[in-house]
Amino acid sequence: MIRRTLIAGNWKMNGLSASAVEVNAIADGAPNGVDLLICPPATLIASLANRGVPIGGQNCHSEVKGAYTGDVSADQLADVGAVAVIVGHSERRQEYEVTDAIVCSKVPAAWGAGLTAIICVGETKEQRDHGAALDVVGAQLAGSIPDGATAANSVIAYEPVWAIGTGLVPSINDITEMHAHIRAQLAGRFAEAKGMRILYGGSLKPDNAAEILAIENVDGGLIGGASLKAEDFLAIARAA
Ligand code: PGA
Repeated sequence: MIRRTLIAGNWKMNGLSASAVEVNAIADGAPNGVDLLICPPATLIASLANRGVPIGGQNCHSEVKGAYTGDVSADQLADVGAVAVIVGHSERRQEYEVTDAIVCSKVPAAWGAGLTAIICVGETKEQRDHGAALDVVGAQLAGSIPDGATAANSVIAYEPVWAIGTGLVPSINDITEMHAHIRAQLAGRFAEAKGMRILYGGSLKPDNAAEILAIENVDGGLIGGASLKAEDFLAIARAA
């Protein structure tokens, strides 16, 4: 089954109205044969949608609406033009105590709104040092992905916590092993496992992108820091 490469940018809490120039430049320079996605802060989704680059959210609530001050629902993201949403990013798992069960409850909300859920998993440095990385990620997958995941409605992002924003990346062997492990676990549950994309994230940059994106079962990247400048983001997309 063919899996189209997906290069997704996660702007985190960066970007103002003026950042539209970056999205315009990405639209102008988008290489053929690669799917692109930019996930800006929720405040920018409406103004960045319909510029030629698909736009996604960075988080959503599990409910469609209600008394949840400060939260955003998947329906609201879709309403202003988002086509995808990141759920369970490690920064939210760590800083807001978002558990696997909470991640799992957000995914059907994303699907219900017609959004592709980008479900993030990844071990800490301590867990890797203890030889627990495969087990930790396996448990996160089991707990965070609800039944009903398909190649169209779900993308998995493997992001080792210790590689995010640090300039550190796992070895090629470790990424290969983890992505094969994730593929095998998906195959145990989902009929469309072979078509589901598994992204790598964590200090993915123009200078390491070609090597990492060539690894078997690495179907694209989730990029933080290097997604903020169109030039860097496009260099990664071209390397894919
Ligand atoms: P980074 O972030 O590319 O800056 O390491 C990746 C992420 O958090 O998605």
